Amino acid sequence: AALTQRRPSTARASRDLARAVECKSQFKVALLGAAGGIGQPLALLLKMNRYVSDLSLYDIVNVPGVAADLSHCNTPTQVKAFNGKESLEAALEGADLVVIPAGVPRKPGMTRDDLFNTNASIVQGLIEAAAKVCPKAILNIITNPVNSTVPITAETLKAAGVYDPKRVLGVSTLDVVRANTFVAEAKGLNVKDVDVPVVGGHAGITILPLLSQTQPKVNFSEDEVAKLTDRIQNAGTEVVEAKAGAGSATLSMAYAAARMAESVLAGLSGIEEVLGLGELSASEKSGLEKLKPELKKSIDTGIKFAKSK
Ligand code: NAD
Ligand code: LMR
Repeated sequence: AALTQRRPSTARASRDLARAVECKSQFKVALLGAAGGIGQPLALLLKMNRYVSDLSLYDIVNVPGVAADLSHCNTPTQVKAFNGKESLEAALEGADLVVIPAGVPRKPGMTRDDLFNTNASIVQGLIEAAAKVCPKAILNIITNPVNSTVPITAETLKAAGVYDPKRVLGVSTLDVVRANTFVAEAKGLNVKDVDVPVVGGHAGITILPLLSQTQPKVNFSEDEVAKLTDRIQNAGTEVVEAKAGAGSATLSMAYAAARMAESVLAGLSGIEEVLGLGELSASEKSGLEKLKPELKKSIDTGIKFAKSK
């Protein structure tokens, strides 16, 4: 369900955030994989976030340096370092939100599914600890393949008897960020005004941009829909190829994850709204039917892995 839910638009997120300012606004966030390519810039953005009072940085290596560096920024957020597996549970203590970018990224020629063998166990181990230490925390899963690591998370929480589907979120905000950017570029619009909902999962055709619901209202030709959809679905690969072996998206991902974290913390401040899919065009309806079996396959792979452990 978390994978197929429509994501809030930028304008809606801004409105929610404005309302949230009046509510509870201090939260503890644990960032797992904090010393990595996404982890470091994301830690910086979270240190600058007005909702975050405490930021626990956890990784299996290099955390003390990252935390010392970050702690010199003169923002109120308190930063603590947790380095190595033995400090994982302490890092999770009291967390309201756990953000997980721990795991290996793609190299050119690889699919996200090629990361499964390494990343499935990493995510499962982290979730087992979260289930024990902070079972009520919201979990934001960034680690790929998201279409399988989210079901692994769900199954691991079920096995621990603490599963709540509303608390498990696969982070596909980067697809929304990209869709907004590419549509603004293609149509000569101010990117600040553009909202494109994206639904489905986070790989290839399971990423389904709903261009017909773009705000402000824009008309696209069939050819434009095909080209924009293809670019949004393959934008991760565009970055992997440009980085030529040095990893995948990190800066845009950190930006997207920070935006997602801010929306979650606004939600924890008392905002509650479930968005439907809205009205779909004929090509979007067909895209939705095509993505379902593909998404189901990745979900089943995740469930099978989690149940075999
Ligand atoms: P990276 O290699 O730069 O960093 C990963 C970090 O995870 C490293 O610091 C590593 O030490 C740490 N790590 C490994 N095992 C760990 C464990 N058991 N516990 C804690 N930390 C551990 O990689 P990156 O570029 O930051 O990417 C991380 C993940 O995010 C990859 O799987 C990548 O595919 C994924 N990603 C997802 C999206 C998305 O849209 N959801 C976007 C970009 C990247
Ligand atoms: C992305 O969309 O940039 C991420 O999922 C990383 C990747 O491997 O493409």
